[in-house]
Amino acid sequence: MFKQASWNEPVIFEMGYRRRRGYIVPGVEEEIQKAMRDAKALLPEKLQRNEAPRLPELSEVEVLRHFVRLSQMNYCVDLGLYPLGSCTMKYNPKLNDLLAASTAIANIHPYQDPRTVQGILEILYKLSQWLAEITGTYEVSLQPAAGAHGEFLGALIMRAYHKSNHQLEDRTELLVPDSAHGTNPASGNMAGFKVVVVPSDESGCVNLEALKTIVSKRTAGLMLTNPNTLGIFEKDIEEIAKLIHEAGGLLYYDGANLNAILGKVKPGDMGFDVVHINIHKTFATPHGGGGPGAGPIGVSEELEKFLPVPRIAFDGKDYYLDYDRPQSVRKIRCFYGNVAVLLRAFAYIMSLGAEGLEEIAEISVLNANYVLQKLKEVPGIELPYAKGRSRKHECVFSAGKMRKECGVQALNVSKRLLDYGLHAPTTNFPLIVDEALMIEPTESFEKEELDRFIETMWKISKEAYTNPKTVLEAPKNTAITRLDEAKASHPKTMTLSWRMHLKRTETS
Ligand SMILES: Cc1ncc(COP(=O)(O)O)c(C=O)c1O
Repeated sequence: MFKQASWNEPVIFEMGYRRRRGYIVPGVEEEIQKAMRDAKALLPEKLQRNEAPRLPELSEVEVLRHFVRLSQMNYCVDLGLYPLGSCTMKYNPKLNDLLAASTAIANIHPYQDPRTVQGILEILYKLSQWLAEITGTYEVSLQPAAGAHGEFLGALIMRAYHKSNHQLEDRTELLVPDSAHGTNPASGNMAGFKVVVVPSDESGCVNLEALKTIVSKRTAGLMLTNPNTLGIFEKDIEEIAKLIHEAGGLLYYDGANLNAILGKVKPGDMGFDVVHINIHKTFATPHGGGGPGAGPIGVSEELEKFLPVPRIAFDGKDYYLDYDRPQSVRKIRCFYGNVAVLLRAFAYIMSLGAEGLEEIAEISVLNANYVLQKLKEVPGIELPYAKGRSRKHECVFSAGKMRKECGVQALNVSKRLLDYGLHAPTTNFPLIVDEALMIEPTESFEKEELDRFIETMWKISKEAYTNPKTVLEAPKNTAITRLDEAKASHPKTMTLSWRMHLKRTETS
């Protein structure tokens, strides 16, 4: 039976003693002091602090032990299966981390003269070309820092396009299917569009008849995820593209779920005009807990002029930064994007090559369908929508029957999985599935690990029907047991930093 390590570990701000240090090479201390004095002299007086910040002072080994202990109370993709649907938690090759941390990369600065950073500019330029090839788009901008950021930029580009056609005032509606990720309507709304929801049909795909009645002269575009969040390929994509384009709208591709189609089909060929790519998912960069990420967007030739500045360009001899783009939506993020993440993606694509990328799509789809076939008979778990159809990279089950029959919800199943040393699937999303369990096994886990997950799901279902208390009270074997989720996310009680904690305790 799995039992997670549990340490009574203070936060680092509560540790250490004044002037306790990590190792400092003799003679270097004076140099550090001097450098600090020099830096201070450069700062305007109003920006100088009178007191040193209250940073914890610890020895090297204390810092090391602290973080090793914390890591033992955590779960990660290097420990085992992480089937968090739509998040594509695949293995992150260590080679990529080595490259991103190399001094050749870590010591360069974005303010350097481009002539002195030709190497990194070449890498970024080539990466954007590869991504354009993979997505079937004309040009790619690497600037956005996340999928949602890419969506926002995409929506701004849609606005810029309609504005340049003098249609922005009429084209106020952005269509989003009801199976979409929550960031889609949020990004559209932030960019100033009215979001109109498109219902799904009984096969889990966009309801074409309903779409026909919704599309109008007010349509700025449609944001679509394909394969969608149910793991189902939108079979009517050509007809959908035709419908939107004929109405004068643009088609936006949410490329968070690109894993299943890598090297198989390109969003550009499906008719999409704007595509974002969740680099941190498909191209294997570590992104637990909400970051870091990169969400480049690719666009069709017609939209290229609206991409943010600077564009990394090549004149046949040198790489340079091109700001001369009068119709650009300007900047969406500082410098060139999240370079350390992009670099890992570059290494990942380079090490796999075109064939390797295609194999990813094949194995991830095979794994998702293997899990689907093995779980579809589990008591209390049902497969909603298109029962006879295979899935792409993920499969979504409903624990609605289990809730009705023994009071155990999807959330409880997920919590109980933690007790067996597995990560939970995405829970209660997509919203169109009652008690959703969204499972994405990716290509990086071997059959034995998938079987361990499948056997555990069968075991949990048995527990739910024979001894529901065990499932309802889970997890018990983890370092932190059941969290008060409302307290953890309520603005009055949520504490995100040590400073916030101090403020709260001082005022309470
Ligand atoms: C389908 C889909 N779209 C968009 C996003 C947003 O991506 P990010 O979390 O990088 O902002 C996600 C993230 O999980 C997703 O699954």
